[in-house]
Amino acid sequence: MTEQRKMLVTSALPYANGSIHLGHMVETIQTDIWVRFQKLRGHNCIYVCADDAHGTAIMLRAEQLGLTPEQQIANIQAEHEADFNDFLIEFDNYHSTHSEENKELSSHIYKKLQDNGHIDTRTVTQAYDPEKQLFLADRYVKGTCPKCKTPDQYGDNCEHCSATYSPVELINPVSVISGATPIAKDSDHYFFTLPDFTDFLKDWTRAGHLQDEVANKLAEWLDSGLQQWDISRDAPYFGFEIPGHPGKYFYVWLDAPIGYMASFKNLCDKTDGLNFDDYWAKDSKHELYHFIGKDIINFHALFWPAMLNDSGFRTPTKVCVHGFLTVDGKKMSKSRGTFINARTYLEHLKPEYLRYYYATKLTNSVDDLDLNLDDFISKVNSDLVGKVVNIASRTAKFVAKAGGKLSGSIANEELWNKFQAADSRIAEAYENREFSKAMREIMALADAANEYIAEQAPWSLAKEDGNEQKVLDICTMGVNCFKALMTYLKPVLPATAEAAELFLNTKLSWSTPVSFLGDHEINKFKPLMTRVESDKVQAMVDASKEDVAEAAAESSPKTWLAKEPVANEIEFDEFAKIDLRVALIANAEHVEGANKLLRLTLDLGGETRNVFAGIKGAYQPEDLIGKKTIMVANLKPRKMKFGLSEGMVLAAGPGGKDLFILEPHEGAEPGMRVM
Ligand code: 2FM
Ligand code: ZN
Repeated sequence: MTEQRKMLVTSALPYANGSIHLGHMVETIQTDIWVRFQKLRGHNCIYVCADDAHGTAIMLRAEQLGLTPEQQIANIQAEHEADFNDFLIEFDNYHSTHSEENKELSSHIYKKLQDNGHIDTRTVTQAYDPEKQLFLADRYVKGTCPKCKTPDQYGDNCEHCSATYSPVELINPVSVISGATPIAKDSDHYFFTLPDFTDFLKDWTRAGHLQDEVANKLAEWLDSGLQQWDISRDAPYFGFEIPGHPGKYFYVWLDAPIGYMASFKNLCDKTDGLNFDDYWAKDSKHELYHFIGKDIINFHALFWPAMLNDSGFRTPTKVCVHGFLTVDGKKMSKSRGTFINARTYLEHLKPEYLRYYYATKLTNSVDDLDLNLDDFISKVNSDLVGKVVNIASRTAKFVAKAGGKLSGSIANEELWNKFQAADSRIAEAYENREFSKAMREIMALADAANEYIAEQAPWSLAKEDGNEQKVLDICTMGVNCFKALMTYLKPVLPATAEAAELFLNTKLSWSTPVSFLGDHEINKFKPLMTRVESDKVQAMVDASKEDVAEAAAESSPKTWLAKEPVANEIEFDEFAKIDLRVALIANAEHVEGANKLLRLTLDLGGETRNVFAGIKGAYQPEDLIGKKTIMVANLKPRKMKFGLSEGMVLAAGPGGKDLFILEPHEGAEPGMRVM
């Protein structure tokens, strides 16, 4: 066995203001596979993570829900941990950036930067919401583009003409939080003097800590000159107050990566013999890996190493960057049902299907990876069920018939040599995060094993007396091929590997090359994996559309505005396509299992429609019956989790309890067109 390595691994800390979706899962699955691989090889590998709990968005979300930020982040953390757990992500510790450890470490690091003369103070003019008494980040201001005059643009750039500007330059700006007109207001901000670290970073980014493509991108930024980094935000802000500066808070991105250290510190404090400094001291001999997405490279490969270096800590061994997830070749889309929450996936499908599919797609490049739902079904079914598990199910019964004990001989040395020769290639592919290469190698072995079994056809041999030993030898070979394959797949399929261990009556270990199991009793074979059914995948997509309807119903339009840009103006022709009708609510009832939806039966003057509407927060079903509403009558019917929705009703108001439809005397006769 090679020398045992000591490694600390992290994946990016998810924000505590939203659910985990399949995009997040690319990273946690990638990291978890890598960590499980390292552990299986006998290394000491520790995987920590946490919720990223600070910032304005989280503060506003809590307020909207009528919770304190602390309650809100505790609820979300419980949800996140359950999602990760059910995807078989095995953290050694899961913590929060809103923790004592993080507060202490953040203050400690900040003071070091300050003592070293790397904190600057400057006055900054920013948009300010006089009603909410809150400085507004660019995304919280909307208005008309000062250049091309397109309305409804965010505070930093115009989606129509691509102009960039500051929010105070917008024409008729509004705060998307309160609707008030923002004013320009000055305040003092604290800056980390990043340009002082240009030379250090030029070396660091070329010293083997990054993929080449990432280092090249950073070189462009480094060559064009770094800017000082604004690390403070004014109250009200949910975060840590900056020591010595009341009313000023650390910007969420200052304490977020320190959250990696804090989670590890929290683990050290509850684990005998685990020492924080061993991993984080400047001269640490241990390895430190951060897995991240390509959108947050600057934080991890510029700001973070500079901060660590300046405050007397070690820097990462590697920052491992992956690309974004697309679904069916496109950005995840709420309306297409391809913005899939982790929980929605888990309600319909097994976690290992996705773990395997992602593994077949993951490389060590920053290229995006696509979850093609048809390919997902066929790959999982053909590779895992059709190839790997099939080897065991075709051969185990003959071993059972022979008394359940494997034979002592290797029936096909050539085939076994092939399996052994692949051992180090597969390990190397895992080590280099070339999971797709590892999966291809493994499936090539599975093909070879299946070919061997098909050629030998033990089921035919077994029909004639005198072939008992031969059949047992062939099937022993098959069972051993299966054992090797499951060992190689154990980092990806931990639950199936555990079931395989029960069947094989041995632990699947890979700290030494995979060995042949001879003269060994095995247990009864039970089916290890079922096929992915396409109707379950469709049900997941339908449920994702439903999640969106519920989320829209939950958010008040004001906050909804902040998250989802209102579409640009439309042409008259597009508007004219919408058939708006007066509808009488003939019946309204609760929908079992839906938090916000009611089922409405709408009378359009003779014709009735079944529509699900997210207005349960505002009306009891009995109060709606007999009232009128305006409906979009020509909306294509949508299959939802609860049934078919044949249109959409319109209501007005800020949301929640205040959503208004029409009274019985309003809106004229059912079925009339609204012009
Ligand atoms: O981009 C994000 O989702 C951040 N919450 C990631 C933080 S990673 C680390 F720096 F904490
Ligand atoms: Zn513009």
